[in-house]
Amino acid sequence: MTDEKIIQTDMGTMHGTTTNDAHPVVCLGIESSCDETSAAIVDSNRNILAHIIYSQIPEHQKYGGVVPELAARAHILAIDAVVNQTLARAGKNINDIDIIAATAGPGLIGGVLVGWMAATGIAMSTNKPLIAVNHLEGHALVPRLHAAAANGNDGNTSVDFPYLLMLASGGHCQILLVRGVGKYELIGQTLDDSAGEAFDKVAKMLNLGYPGGPVVDARAKNGNPHAFAFPRPLCDKPGCDFSFSGIKTAARTFLERTPAPHDDEFINDFCASFQAAVVDCIINRLNHAMRDERVCAVAPKTLVVAGGVAKNSAIRAAMEELAAAHNMTFAAPPMSLCTDNGAMIAWAGIENYRIGNIVRAPIAPRPRWPLTEL
Ligand code: KG4
Ligand code: ZN
Repeated sequence: MTDEKIIQTDMGTMHGTTTNDAHPVVCLGIESSCDETSAAIVDSNRNILAHIIYSQIPEHQKYGGVVPELAARAHILAIDAVVNQTLARAGKNINDIDIIAATAGPGLIGGVLVGWMAATGIAMSTNKPLIAVNHLEGHALVPRLHAAAANGNDGNTSVDFPYLLMLASGGHCQILLVRGVGKYELIGQTLDDSAGEAFDKVAKMLNLGYPGGPVVDARAKNGNPHAFAFPRPLCDKPGCDFSFSGIKTAARTFLERTPAPHDDEFINDFCASFQAAVVDCIINRLNHAMRDERVCAVAPKTLVVAGGVAKNSAIRAAMEELAAAHNMTFAAPPMSLCTDNGAMIAWAGIENYRIGNIVRAPIAPRPRWPLTEL
């Protein structure tokens, strides 16, 4: 496919406030683990010099979710154009790049293979260091590249270790104590669905399209969060684990009782009530996490949310309030860096390069790769 045929979003540039290094490390990062083919050029002074995302969402929308085989094919067709255009937007050629990083897992293996093999090929042919980035670590570390303090505020701060992280995406839902690069302690996780999956499935039940999170978030703004009595699974139990399947089942039961067509008021109220249940679960579990002895021993000063679900306005607002109540600072990536993107992979590449975590022999990408195995 030619470059022109691929509809891409130019995410533009972002600049770090501290440009302390006169010779920053420049990294080309590639992301391809789900339905975004993305590349970015980021330097160790926290500058995003170019960032392109080719989203496949329109190709998967008619199926109500990501179709792995279609995704892998679309990555193959897009990858060269995305990388070439990213270099062009930055006004750089491959010789100006110091290191190459790509997602090596976890994710849909067909897509991961495409980005990983592209990065391996570029690194081998140019003799540059190659970094195998864990996709989850990309999400986990991106608030150190750029963090926004509050709702909708795309500020320019950076987060220091250690921090307490709520990582919520389409595939994962975990509370992690982040001690440093590669140093993650799992405090709690979902026993069934991820938070993003719950948003996507409920949106599908309401015929609101894919992905569900953004539309549910928008609808909830005009709805009554008390209209439907969704359960708050595990919230009466100790510990920090999540369960969203009960919320999903409740959604199905409510909808069986009130079949379509649904008017706007119904949909808005339904979304608001569902979202309020998810928010309450997240806040309840984080409250427990803050009392967990492993967390208390480290006493992190910052509460961070990351992953695609970190775009959710109600979750950001509730977590900001929770952080304030515990004398902690709240941080979230700017909206543009929450969902999958190449800049977070480039940044995680830089952070790993700094600690010498470079690929020295060929490695196979991994469909499953928990952060605790880094
Ligand atoms: O991190 P991500 O881009 O992909 C994975 O690594 O899974 O996350 C995508 C997920 C989807 O489930 C999507 O519905 C959700 O993030 N999402 C949201 C919002 N925007 C995206 N969920 C809730 N509220 C949002 N505003
Ligand atoms: Zn992701």
